[in-house]
Amino acid sequence: MTNGSERMAILGGRGMLGTDLQKAARQHGFTVGVFDLPEFDITNERHLRGAIADYDVIVNCAAYTNVDGAESNAETAYAVNAGAAERLGRLAVESDKYVLHISTDFVFDGRKDGPYDETELPNPLGVYGRTKLQGEQLLSQTGCRHSIVRVQWTYGKAGNNFVSKMIQLARGGKPLKVIDDQVGSPTATIEVAAALCDLLAADRRPEGLFHYAAAGYVNRCEQARFIFDTLKLKVDVSPCRSADYATAAERPLNSRFDCDKIQRYLDKPIRPWQEPLAEFLEQL
Ligand SMILES: NC(=O)c1ccc[n+]([C@@H]2O[C@H](COP(=O)([O-])OP(=O)(O)OC[C@H]3O[C@@H](n4cnc5c(N)ncnc54)[C@H](OP(=O)(O)O)[C@@H]3O)[C@@H](O)[C@H]2O)c1
Repeated sequence: MTNGSERMAILGGRGMLGTDLQKAARQHGFTVGVFDLPEFDITNERHLRGAIADYDVIVNCAAYTNVDGAESNAETAYAVNAGAAERLGRLAVESDKYVLHISTDFVFDGRKDGPYDETELPNPLGVYGRTKLQGEQLLSQTGCRHSIVRVQWTYGKAGNNFVSKMIQLARGGKPLKVIDDQVGSPTATIEVAAALCDLLAADRRPEGLFHYAAAGYVNRCEQARFIFDTLKLKVDVSPCRSADYATAAERPLNSRFDCDKIQRYLDKPIRPWQEPLAEFLEQL
């Protein structure tokens, strides 16, 4: 909890994570400023300078998140995910702001057998992951006070995601093939938002790299079955392999995170993925 006078700017604040963070931050006593397209473009230095001027803490949720689109729009992906992060870092040094920057499991190639911790060497498979990794590195190199929180397999009310896609496909009534060789932890943005607020409490605000995901793990096909069972939707689901499902960008097969480091700063233990997902589905 803050003392009520602290101000948080959320860049990309109307996206999936930003929307849940707005609410959580207000509940934690922050005065919140929301900055997003079209009136705010993070690649525009004047916009960025103006956005952060009146805030103590800047959370950067803005990103070019179209993983497949990035393969043919590398320049835009770089400008938003990397160039803007560096500029944000430089401006934060000038004005002594604390930055919390959001990143992704796509910085890893997913070939590790087991969960990734923060010391693991990244090796992105595609343009999106590469630009997100460059963003992390460029921001860090500015020397600003910052933390980077990598999240994975997120879903929330304000965005298109695997959960909304499965529900939409189920309504089509056709049999579904869902990949069973990608493993991760479905993570609710509402839970991420609460964790970020814990991290941003005035007496914490650590610097460094953190991994955040729900506890436990599952493959996509099992996750789809969990969604359909919870919603009591009768869907004929069968497993397939990622290789059978052509996409422009290759995805990591293993997105599991070791979250011991961030857990030390959180008020509550990270919950198993099934609990927030069931709550999310019940509220639909
Ligand atoms: N979704 C996932 O599964 C996932 C997984 C791992 C990590 N992440 C990371 O989580 C963070 C939050 O993403 P999200 O899931 O909330 O995705 P999102 O809903 O796509 O949010 C990103 C926000 O950034 C905005 N944005 C894009 N270009 C911008 C620009 N030039 N200037 C200002 N704002 C811009 C988007 O606006 P428009 O919608 O108008 O483009 C959107 O509101 C990102 O760093 C992402 O890389 C997401």
